[in-house]
Amino acid sequence: MTTRLTDSPEDAAAYIRRGQTVAFPTETVYGLGADAFDPHAVQQIFAAKGRPSDNPLIVHIADRAQVDDLAASVPDAARVLMDRFFPGPLTLILPRHPDVPSVVTAGLDTVGVRMPDHPAAQRFLAACGTPVAAPSANRSGRPSPTTWQAVRDDLGGRIPCILRGGRTRAGLESTVVDCTTAPPAVLRPGAITLDALRAVVPSVQGPATGDDDDRARSPGTKHRHYAPSARVCLVDTPADAVPGAAHAYIGLEAPPERNAFGRVRVCPSVEAYAHALFHVFRASEAAGCTTIYCQRVPDTGLGEALMDRLRRAASATV
Ligand code: TXA
Ligand code: MG
Repeated sequence: MTTRLTDSPEDAAAYIRRGQTVAFPTETVYGLGADAFDPHAVQQIFAAKGRPSDNPLIVHIADRAQVDDLAASVPDAARVLMDRFFPGPLTLILPRHPDVPSVVTAGLDTVGVRMPDHPAAQRFLAACGTPVAAPSANRSGRPSPTTWQAVRDDLGGRIPCILRGGRTRAGLESTVVDCTTAPPAVLRPGAITLDALRAVVPSVQGPATGDDDDRARSPGTKHRHYAPSARVCLVDTPADAVPGAAHAYIGLEAPPERNAFGRVRVCPSVEAYAHALFHVFRASEAAGCTTIYCQRVPDTGLGEALMDRLRRAASATV
């Protein structure tokens, strides 16, 4: 199939209304959407991505009223989090409304809901007139796309339409919070930090580490993730990165022999590092780099989400 590129949210929404898939920008990463209430359309997302069917999708909304079509009930903590963070890079796991097709939730009795904070995404979702199920718009296992070109590289010829926008602002995915438990618990660290969540709901539990029950509750966290074709190697200090023309480096500090690397990205902040990470992965592999050295950051604030992505990318490629 040919993949049409458009700058019009309304043109892109017409594909959704016809039961097809569309890639669209959000403030985190690009998503690959379909009408959440059309199981056949949602099935095409799994086919295009090569996504395992046991990994549920996040449903994107334009309007708070749509939550009632998706969730059987809305716990108090979820209301407080929505008041503070919708629209924004936060996904809430809620009890599933019986009308939500099971292909969306991978058979779970819960559903993930998020309202993106991005003008084109909001216009697109409003024009769709239906909630839109959407995972990140990458081939399964690959780094999430932060540009429309990255979407085209992974899914060109496999999806009918890409809504073009600029580079995504956050560069990392939304924070996923399970609101079906008391207290609520972070299932995936993301663009909204634990401290920010706790400022409004102090009882929120941090992400579980290791292979325990909490991690199994967010099925996506067990799959291979975020891996470019180059090897990802984590280092504590820049001096641990081995120079080489086919070696790339990203970190908060510059490596000693900066010019001996094929590519170097020194980031002024953890936010800038998160924004750049997936883009650097893809740019480095396109430049033929065989190894990407990534400097570890402290596991606090946004560093928690960044380290989560770095660890997954590294373990998938070692
Ligand atoms: O920022 C984002 O969240 C992006 C943009 C496109 O919105 N989307 C995204 O989707 O990252 P995806 O499919 O790549 O990751 C969704 C994560 C997975 O780890 C999945 O297992 C989890 O959310 N998830 C979705 N529904 C869930 C549910 N009902 N219960 C537990 N985890 C769920
Ligand atoms: Mg993803």
